[in-house]
Amino acid sequence: MVHDRGMARIGILGVGTIAEAVVRAMCTRPGQADEFILSPRSEARSMRLAEEFGNCRRAESNQAVIDACDIVVLAMRPQDLDEALEGLTFREDQIVASFIAALPPSQVAELTAPAIRTCQVIPLPAIAVHRGPLVISPGIPEVVEVFDGLGDVIVLDDETKIRVLSCASAIMSTYYEAQNRVIDWIVDQGVAPQTASLYIRSELEGLASVGKAVSEDQRADLPAEHQTPGGLNERVRAGLLEQGWFDALVAQVDGIYRNAVLRGPDAD
Ligand SMILES: NC(=O)c1ccc[n+]([C@@H]2O[C@H](COP(=O)([O-])OP(=O)(O)OC[C@H]3O[C@@H](n4cnc5c(N)ncnc54)[C@H](OP(=O)(O)O)[C@@H]3O)[C@@H](O)[C@H]2O)c1
Repeated sequence: MVHDRGMARIGILGVGTIAEAVVRAMCTRPGQADEFILSPRSEARSMRLAEEFGNCRRAESNQAVIDACDIVVLAMRPQDLDEALEGLTFREDQIVASFIAALPPSQVAELTAPAIRTCQVIPLPAIAVHRGPLVISPGIPEVVEVFDGLGDVIVLDDETKIRVLSCASAIMSTYYEAQNRVIDWIVDQGVAPQTASLYIRSELEGLASVGKAVSEDQRADLPAEHQTPGGLNERVRAGLLEQGWFDALVAQVDGIYRNAVLRGPDAD
């Protein structure tokens, strides 16, 4: 739900893949439009967004972005951060929201002083359709407000827990791999690809909707509620449980949590 509030001036340093997705999502959600001041890089993306949306404009330099906004979003790759910030001057009253994976907001504050109100924002690709979780840590009210309406905002005040959620989100490609494997299996049995694809993707959409709609108390019962004793679902789940499939999934997530590096190219 987007609430009525004053227009925010949001500066984006680093208009790459994720920044473009977020700006597009923010410009196309219902409610009022904020103003976006975009860094000159990436040139093609920032020019495209400025052409497409009346509330986006491309600034001449990174400093011009900072000078024109209330909230500065850092959206470059971790390895480009130091060079990008070199020589830039922030204001004390500015808020810095960083998309940069595996860089704790308290460390960002050291780089952007005197702007020390900093937080990390973690958008996932589904933000493009205004869905999915959006972690904001810590929950700076002005940042929570401007990202409202883009999915489920999850405020995490303890920055040491950001990495837990980041690692837990690393099941996205596995999810689609599972989706596509089952679609391929249906096609192998002689069903038309379009039919197979719509069937499974629609089934998964329905399951996700129910999974999200039930109360927290009902969540644990979902597997049992979606199988009949001795039925097909129960047999598939029991077989995978016996093979340790779910333990293996959690072990993989746990493994990256214990081994993930900070500020490296594999940060997200
Ligand atoms: N992709 C995701 O799903 C995702 C999700 C959550 C968080 N993140 C985080 O978001 C950040 C960006 O990821 P991405 O996938 O969007 O990467 P990307 O597509 O490579 O975008 C990085 C952008 O930063 C720009 N840039 C580099 N140096 C700059 C500088 N000195 N000043 C201004 N801009 C500069 C690049 O411009 P040029 O093209 O001109 O080099 C490029 O537009 C990363 O830190 C990542 O951890 C990404």
